[in-house]
Amino acid sequence: MTTAITVTAADEQQLLGRIRTDLYIDGQWRAASSGRTFTVTDPSTGETLAEVADASPEDGQAALDAAHRAQRGWAKTPPRVRAEILRRAFDLVTARADEFALTMTLEMGKPLAESRGEVAYGAEFLRWFSEEAPRISGRYSTAPDGANRLLVVKRPVGPCLFITPWNFPLAMATRKIAPAIAAGCTMVLKPAALTPLTALLLTQVFEEAGLPPGVLNLIPTTSAGKVTAPLIKDPRLRKLSFTGSTEVGRRLIADSAEQVLRVSMELGGNAPFIVFEDADIPAAVAGGILAKMRNGGEACVAANRFLVHESVAEEFTTAFVERMAGFSAARGTEPQSTVGPLVDEATREKVSSLVAGAIEDGAHVALGGSSIPGPGYFYQPTVLTGVPAGARILDEEIFGPVAPITTFRTEAEAITLANDTPFGLVCFAFTADLNRALRLAEELDTGMLGINAGVVSNPAAPFGGVKQSGLGREGGFEGIDEYLETRYVGIADPFVSTSDTEDD
Ligand code: SIN
Repeated sequence: MTTAITVTAADEQQLLGRIRTDLYIDGQWRAASSGRTFTVTDPSTGETLAEVADASPEDGQAALDAAHRAQRGWAKTPPRVRAEILRRAFDLVTARADEFALTMTLEMGKPLAESRGEVAYGAEFLRWFSEEAPRISGRYSTAPDGANRLLVVKRPVGPCLFITPWNFPLAMATRKIAPAIAAGCTMVLKPAALTPLTALLLTQVFEEAGLPPGVLNLIPTTSAGKVTAPLIKDPRLRKLSFTGSTEVGRRLIADSAEQVLRVSMELGGNAPFIVFEDADIPAAVAGGILAKMRNGGEACVAANRFLVHESVAEEFTTAFVERMAGFSAARGTEPQSTVGPLVDEATREKVSSLVAGAIEDGAHVALGGSSIPGPGYFYQPTVLTGVPAGARILDEEIFGPVAPITTFRTEAEAITLANDTPFGLVCFAFTADLNRALRLAEELDTGMLGINAGVVSNPAAPFGGVKQSGLGREGGFEGIDEYLETRYVGIADPFVSTSDTEDD
């Protein structure tokens, strides 16, 4: 996970100078109507990276006006044209991978090697959906009684609002924008205020790729509620897609009920990582490190609870602690960095309080357990063992580099523990027994399951959760359906015409 390329302060300044920092509405870059800007900071140093236009509710309305105006024409644009714009955007993001990676590292903190991984992941949604756009299809059939014909067509849902998170600033945006473009929808994107620079750079790419004015409108803002609430109430908006916490998602679903919006919600998780007694332990350790430390643990799919069979707990824990101890916490631009800072002080405080609570409840600190003194919001890679049932850390999303380990005795107990949560985004299980893997696929309450794999995310697969982890799927064949309505046209039997009747 290390990177050999050295990034200089001059490289950073040059890149930041190339990123436009205005709002993008109706194909125009413009200042916020209030004239206000907000500061984007580097979580590794606390220093200012850029000042970005701070959209007001009026700017939000202007963005939806533009999306609404563009919708009819965009829906009529040939699928091949939409596909080619996406493909050009894929090529441009790929050609500018270093710029995107550095932007994410600067504003979000992850090591450059991880950011490069996200560029490949995020760009792939553009390529995948460029390939899906021309394959949108319908059907024509004869009704069972032979009398009528049934025509079923797919139509774009209409203008969408996207609210995206800070943890994967590129991939969480392309995962929504790409299927919307492919389906023929227009959109307003509100990126996280902590990480708007990647979305700004991506918007520049779409402009260069030839996306018509009004199709994508970008409104970074620090007044998320004030700007988005009126849009959600506006009858011209037809879809809301949100990635973020279950708490906020629940409120957005309630608000969306007023206009009966289509919603896609990628919400919180509490992923169990189960290691069975027959698992290949070195593979389970490698998978556990990936599942826990990808994105520094700041992922809704991060392994949140390690459930390890008691007969292999010591072997697994010893090797896992050794690997966790090998992480090097440093600013993501440093060649030795393998884990960056947490995104802000509030996130670090939450992680600290979960660890402190677990220790009070009787957990043992096998590694780490503290914040790293500043600058920046670094936290030590941490392993806790003997975490008792009921500890808050087993129930809440940690969103940091902390691995709580507990043990189990039987498969049934592991399944019960794994399912004992209101969340159901992803589970990971390591086992050599195929039948057990198939039983888990049927018994675990989850949207996604990794078998002997520490990462399941893939643009060609349907990402999403059950229970309070969300609604809808992103990516895969399913991803485009979220942006399509089904229209049915009933047609009278073409062989029975009025003139036939008259001739009789
Ligand atoms: C997330 O954590 O929000 C998404 C992670 C992924 O796509 O793998």
